[in-house]
Amino acid sequence: MAKNDRANFGSKIGVILASAGSAVGLGNIWRFPYETGNNGGAAFILIYLGCVFILGLPIMVSEFLIGRRSRANTAGAYRVLAPRTQWKWVGRMGVLTGFLILSYYSVVAGWTLEYVVEAGTNSFAGKQPSDFINSFNSFSANPWRPLIWLILFLVGTHLIIIKGVEKGIEKSSKIMMPALFILIIILMVCSVTLPGAGAGIEFLLKPDFSKVTGSVFLSAMGQAFFSLSLGMGCLSTYASYFGKDTSLTKTAFSVGIIDTMVAILAGFIIFPAAFSVGIEPDHGPSLIFITLPNVFQQAFSGVPLLAYIFSVMFYVLLAVAALTSTISMHEVVTAYLHEEFKFTRKRAATLVTISCIVLGIFCSLSLGPTKSITLFGLNTFDLFDYVTAKIMLPLGGFFVSIFVGWYLDKNIVKAEITNNGTLKVNIYKIIIFILRYIAPVAIAIIFINELGILK
Ligand code: PHE
Repeated sequence: MAKNDRANFGSKIGVILASAGSAVGLGNIWRFPYETGNNGGAAFILIYLGCVFILGLPIMVSEFLIGRRSRANTAGAYRVLAPRTQWKWVGRMGVLTGFLILSYYSVVAGWTLEYVVEAGTNSFAGKQPSDFINSFNSFSANPWRPLIWLILFLVGTHLIIIKGVEKGIEKSSKIMMPALFILIIILMVCSVTLPGAGAGIEFLLKPDFSKVTGSVFLSAMGQAFFSLSLGMGCLSTYASYFGKDTSLTKTAFSVGIIDTMVAILAGFIIFPAAFSVGIEPDHGPSLIFITLPNVFQQAFSGVPLLAYIFSVMFYVLLAVAALTSTISMHEVVTAYLHEEFKFTRKRAATLVTISCIVLGIFCSLSLGPTKSITLFGLNTFDLFDYVTAKIMLPLGGFFVSIFVGWYLDKNIVKAEITNNGTLKVNIYKIIIFILRYIAPVAIAIIFINELGILK
């Protein structure tokens, strides 16, 4: 029964764009720039690229094959492929991770809606850089406004989930992803030509390895997992809707390239703009909400209409990029509840949405009214971000690589990667080698090193 009302992607390009829709989101345009800023710039980016291509892509192929082979939600997948073992806990941890990320991610997704409205009512016009800092701070500290947007965003996600993913996502991804790409390129050109932008470009291109510590590695790895939607069964859930003839390696490669391009281009928008107006690049989560509105004003100062149009378009597209990601996280938890506990899809989705709203409210308030309540020195929002991105996702990736590299029958792995021998995949051996030896060891070393530093 579960199979029929699950979504199914209609075309190969739909598969790529939906997976890229999950991957490309706030992680690229919001999180990547401030993590880069916090971790010293170009050296971080190099380590990040290593994490994406050496660890990320083989693990993405693994998640794809787990999902497509089992045709089940992420916890069910391990039940199908490894019956009566404890592997199901890896799937369950993924579900929990997705649920936690969705809760705090939706807070930021909600901010994008506020900025759509601000841009739409032309309230950026005539503001100075310091005004943008003040207005962001007063908005995020406001007890009500962010909550309303958070709820709206989750309800929007909910409505798409209960309608089924295929028509909404696949169709909108085909329009929105290329549009986002074009807009990003235009904005990048504007940003790098701002006066004083050179310092930002240098920050992105000149690695300073003296800033590299264990925690820079951990941040880069966490960012790679987060941005590629890996380590929580998100892409395995999507892959359970893939067709038999989809090439898993090609899809993974396309998603990896698209996701990385968007992140790097976003860096070239934010940093030149930030340096140009003297904003510190390590500004944290508020970075893009302060620098970007300013870029629009400065770059098009002679043509206010253009500044207006670009601001509105950008925040609309940012909201859409966030939406295609929240849907994918919501789907992980909804599919799990629906298939494992036999809730109707609608009821499962409602449960997810309501619980995420409640948790999201805590996260949102922790940036303003309840800022002083902290654990390990982090407020709820930062704690959720740290625990999920830097611990749970890499841990999920670790287990996925062991599962496919060591546990799963090699015939199954080969059959999935080569589509039953119909595809020639030259890098098959490399993928297996990485999954067996490189990925688990690298993740373990980065963890142990960081824990040592913490002590
Ligand atoms: N990859 C998404 C982004 O970059 C976030 C995400 C993480 C989505 C985990 C799904 C699963 O915004």
